[in-house]
Amino acid sequence: MSQKIAGVKGMNDVLPGEVEVWQFVEQKAREVCRRFGYREVRTPVVEDTALFVRGVGEGTDIVGKEMYTFEDKGGRSLSLRPEGTAPAARAYVEHSVSNQEPITRWYYLGPMFRYERMKAGRYRQFSQLGAEAYGAKEPAQDAEMIELSVRILEALGLQGVSLHLNSIGDNACRPAYQKKLVDHFQGHRAELCQDCQARLERNPLRILDCKNEGCRAIARDAPSILDALCEGCRAHFEEVKRRLTALGIPFELDPRMVRGLDYYTRTAFELLASDPVLGTASAVCGGGRYDRLVKELGGPDVPGIGFAMGVERLCLLLAEQKRDFAGAPDLFVATADAKADEAAVKLVSQYRSAGLWVETDPRGGSLKSQMKRADKTGARFALVLGERELSEGSAELKPMRGGEPRRVALGEVPGILRGEKAPA
Ligand code: HAM
Repeated sequence: MSQKIAGVKGMNDVLPGEVEVWQFVEQKAREVCRRFGYREVRTPVVEDTALFVRGVGEGTDIVGKEMYTFEDKGGRSLSLRPEGTAPAARAYVEHSVSNQEPITRWYYLGPMFRYERMKAGRYRQFSQLGAEAYGAKEPAQDAEMIELSVRILEALGLQGVSLHLNSIGDNACRPAYQKKLVDHFQGHRAELCQDCQARLERNPLRILDCKNEGCRAIARDAPSILDALCEGCRAHFEEVKRRLTALGIPFELDPRMVRGLDYYTRTAFELLASDPVLGTASAVCGGGRYDRLVKELGGPDVPGIGFAMGVERLCLLLAEQKRDFAGAPDLFVATADAKADEAAVKLVSQYRSAGLWVETDPRGGSLKSQMKRADKTGARFALVLGERELSEGSAELKPMRGGEPRRVALGEVPGILRGEKAPA
């Protein structure tokens, strides 16, 4: 026997049974995005490596440690996209979208790749549902974006998720704050973990959300960014908070939440699930404002804001609810004798064209084995066809989960089943 070849570590198959949960998430997300006026954009999974180095930032874990980077046959350095914001902004610039419309609202769904240490809810290929809006620097846009993320979770029926909110300032106030932070952490340098000692030089803000207990203790006494915002950032943040409150969206201020990507300015937010199934990977959504990214990628001076949700994490939470996402076939058609087979196949074809979900067993076999199969599929009804039924044009329609069989005209089956409500 040949040796089995396993799938790549951290990259998962989604089989029937699970895939229906994914489809539910995708469908609900599309519906809500549409209601908010967001339109879908699809970008390639591979981009020029320079896009992420410049967009996401060289000093970030994502670019520094986690990218799948390779050279193609033409000697170009390409990377599997680790996130969707930089590619969307690249497309926005490349197609001069700002010349065509002052405000652009996009969403996307698709796989991202990060070479991360794996644990529950953290994978090397994962799917994101993201949204980005370009063209409005006003706090109203921040509130809309956050509301969109919250409404998507509501549409999915997910509870126990809390919104964490912060402002990480802009070029006017962040440098001075960073200096204060470095002063604070320098005093505790030896107590910081290896990663944070390196962050002290490269990206001191990131020390604030280090998961290491020792670093967290030192970060607890660090100066808060919310006390260091300049007047512009402070007023912006106040208005975002006021608008969220007016929309009835509760939030928790989290001055230590700084996000792991370099492009953010001002508003940053995350949706954190309290469910233990996700363990430390509790962020189901992360996002924020990025007013300089489009310009840094060679485009016009257009502000942006967005978020992305981890689809696997949403699916893990939904799977816990044990809801029936797959549904069941409307009808199973069994044949009582081989002679009825061909006519039965034609009838099944007509029923499917009429919109019914119809299952059969192509292996034929005894009526008993077909009925066993019917039961296994979970079909709501079964119809047994023999020569007599076909010549008479009627047959017994048998409810599979309780109820009396009744004789029905074969041509009326689609109408009857569509009228029947699926049992809850
Ligand atoms: P992010 O926080 O890196 O932000 O990722 C957003 C979400 O993707 C996370 O909250 C999590 O649910 C999911 N996620 C991230 N990494 C993994 C992983 N290895 N396995 C499973 N799920 C994961 C961004 O990617 C930004 N581009 C979000 C954004 C859009 N900001 C502005 N616009």
